[in-house]
Amino acid sequence: MSNSHLAEPFKIKMIEPIRKISREERLKALQEAGYNPFLLKAKDIYIDLLTDSGTGAMSDRQWAGLMLGDESYAGSTNYYNLSEAVKDVFGYALTIPTHQGRGAEQILFPMLIKKGQHVLGNMHFDTTKAHIELAGGHARNFIADTAFDTATYDPFKGNFDVPKMERFIKEAGSENIAFILVTVTCNSAGGQPVSMENIKQVKECADRYGIRMFFDAARFAENAYFIKQREQGYANVCVADIIREMFSYGQGATVSAKKDGLVNIGGLLCFKEDEALFNECRTMTVPLEGFPTYGGLAGRDIECLARGIREVVDDDYLEYRISQVAYLGDRLREGGVQIQYPTGGHAVFVDAAKLLPHIPPEQFPAHALANELYIESAVRTVEVGSLLMGRDPETGKQQKSPMELLRLTIPRRTYTNNHMDVVADGLIKIKERSKEVRGVEFTSEPKILRHFTARFKQID
Ligand code: F0G
Repeated sequence: MSNSHLAEPFKIKMIEPIRKISREERLKALQEAGYNPFLLKAKDIYIDLLTDSGTGAMSDRQWAGLMLGDESYAGSTNYYNLSEAVKDVFGYALTIPTHQGRGAEQILFPMLIKKGQHVLGNMHFDTTKAHIELAGGHARNFIADTAFDTATYDPFKGNFDVPKMERFIKEAGSENIAFILVTVTCNSAGGQPVSMENIKQVKECADRYGIRMFFDAARFAENAYFIKQREQGYANVCVADIIREMFSYGQGATVSAKKDGLVNIGGLLCFKEDEALFNECRTMTVPLEGFPTYGGLAGRDIECLARGIREVVDDDYLEYRISQVAYLGDRLREGGVQIQYPTGGHAVFVDAAKLLPHIPPEQFPAHALANELYIESAVRTVEVGSLLMGRDPETGKQQKSPMELLRLTIPRRTYTNNHMDVVADGLIKIKERSKEVRGVEFTSEPKILRHFTARFKQID
């Protein structure tokens, strides 16, 4: 079942040394970090699976592009290269670069949302939800139920439950819907893809009620590769064509380019053809991000991005990428560790509630597991569960997340399968002594976005 023999479609030209400190040093480092891996120093980490965002390796062609940065304040050549790349890859004519994905959200959402309106999605990412709420809207999720059942195979766990969404539109009234946002792949559900058929159904539903549809397209290429792999009729279509078809159903996209853009910083706000909206957004880009041909980025960074979005659309690269993540998922499944299945595009999500049933949600089992994996193997990972979800803003009570997941996020082109083995071996060892793992409680709990800076102690 493992894809262990698919070698990297690249060779390594430059290396960055990493080091594993001793177990005693790791215990001390974690204690000093208040049992919160976010507060660890990167130098004390051996394999860092905190995120796939901005942590990947650029190619030699991208590094070469860095030297071609045109740092003109306005009208930089790199901006036109980026616009051409977006036109070719996405089929969208109108592009604004931004410093990262949330920069694009910050510009677009206030243009589209009137106070009290709803924004419908499969499952909104947390900064996306925050920007919807900052603009006066309500973020609503309509992901299909199979997404919450880690053990059951469904090739497209990122799909919308379209009938459920349509019932909501009828009840709320279409005038109270700001827009629909399709997140590909669906990060919060475990990097799970949305099928082309589902995208079409969402689009048809949007059209029936005259609602606009956009993409949150951080992982657009990985989603397209899953369509090629799993959806009937696409096996012989190249990823480039699948991507263009996907984007053809939307009116535009906000993109965190730190993922499939294959760069360390950058984002995109782009539109198929709506010049009026594009021009309004360009106007707002000036005070928020900078002049609309640089949008908070250096010219050299824009050039790397222009090259990155062309590079990611490569069937061989994507086959390697998806199979590396699947390799880690398969190793864990073979070792009896329950994961969100099938494995996602950018990460393996471990079902910590199943691995640590003796730790209740309010003692954050997935966070406890993240700490344990750091102590075991010097690997950093991140909780996606009740700690991330937070308290009910009205009652102040801890909310219970539908899933307690530990995200093992794989940076692009950065680690080898030997590193994946270290991660899998560590987790399998912990599974064997899982009863010893202890939950955590707060020693300090910030009021907003607490998971980034909170401090904890282990419960006896
Ligand atoms: N949308 C999705 C689906 C994301 O996963 C992210 C970021 C964003 C928007 C925001 O983009 O960070 O460039 O401002 N996800 C990162 C992660 C942070 O670790 O999953 P950004």
